[in-house]
Amino acid sequence: MEIVICKTKEEASRKAAEMITAAVKKNPKVVLGLATGSTPVPMYKEMAKAVKAKKVSYKQVRTWNLDEYWGLPGTHDQSYRYFMDKNLFDFIDIKKSNTHVLNGLAKDWRKECAAYEAQIKKAGGIDIQVLGIGSDGHIAFNEPGSSLASRTRMVSLTPQTIKDNARFFKKAADVPQHALSMGVGSIMEAKKVILLAFGKNKAAAVAAAVEGGISQYCTASALQMHQDAWFFCDEEAASKLKLKKYYAWRAEGELARA
Ligand code: F6R
Repeated sequence: MEIVICKTKEEASRKAAEMITAAVKKNPKVVLGLATGSTPVPMYKEMAKAVKAKKVSYKQVRTWNLDEYWGLPGTHDQSYRYFMDKNLFDFIDIKKSNTHVLNGLAKDWRKECAAYEAQIKKAGGIDIQVLGIGSDGHIAFNEPGSSLASRTRMVSLTPQTIKDNARFFKKAADVPQHALSMGVGSIMEAKKVILLAFGKNKAAAVAAAVEGGISQYCTASALQMHQDAWFFCDEEAASKLKLKKYYAWRAEGELARA
């Protein structure tokens, strides 16, 4: 696990975007796993800037998103498909047919989840997985109590996540209570993981994920077992880390080698 601590979320987003841009340049057919939520938005802006400046092309890149609300069509302005179109895909030269988001209206969610995993496997697996982290330490919609071996499936959101996400809906009662989500086990198969965490609201979750025990109570802690996981944090999100000075010192060298 490498912890990159930056003064601002903008700087952290720029560094994380540089890592992705470099990977796409190296392998134009790279397979990306993507996240929604407020955290990756500044990084997606940086990625779009690099495309606009013709530094990189996403024409052959394929993407799979982590999760989707159950019961929302992709046209709903709070669906994760809609989010991805409006925050990234509409601003890069990717083929929409190469972008995949779970279908929140699938007739049979088990078949939908199994087919999604099979598609990723056929593509050779996820090369780089982008993640945010919930204030309770969740990754994707793997809430506390999710098995660390879990696969893509239907999940129930916790009242806390519903509360956190209510800011995007007119009222809390409009937030779907279920979602389809890649599992912790599915995420752990990605070759590289980039987790972004910003703001003091994430400080406890980051500390639990990085320095706590590996536990289903904080599903991001499973990343301690990943061989190439990078946390890009701003100072607030890193504020509860006991070893933050060491991580900052160590990350400089690791970033140069990455
Ligand atoms: C989104 C996702 C979630 C978010 C997390 C943080 O696809 O899987 O795990 O990353 O809830 O959300 P924000 O970034 O809005 O704080």
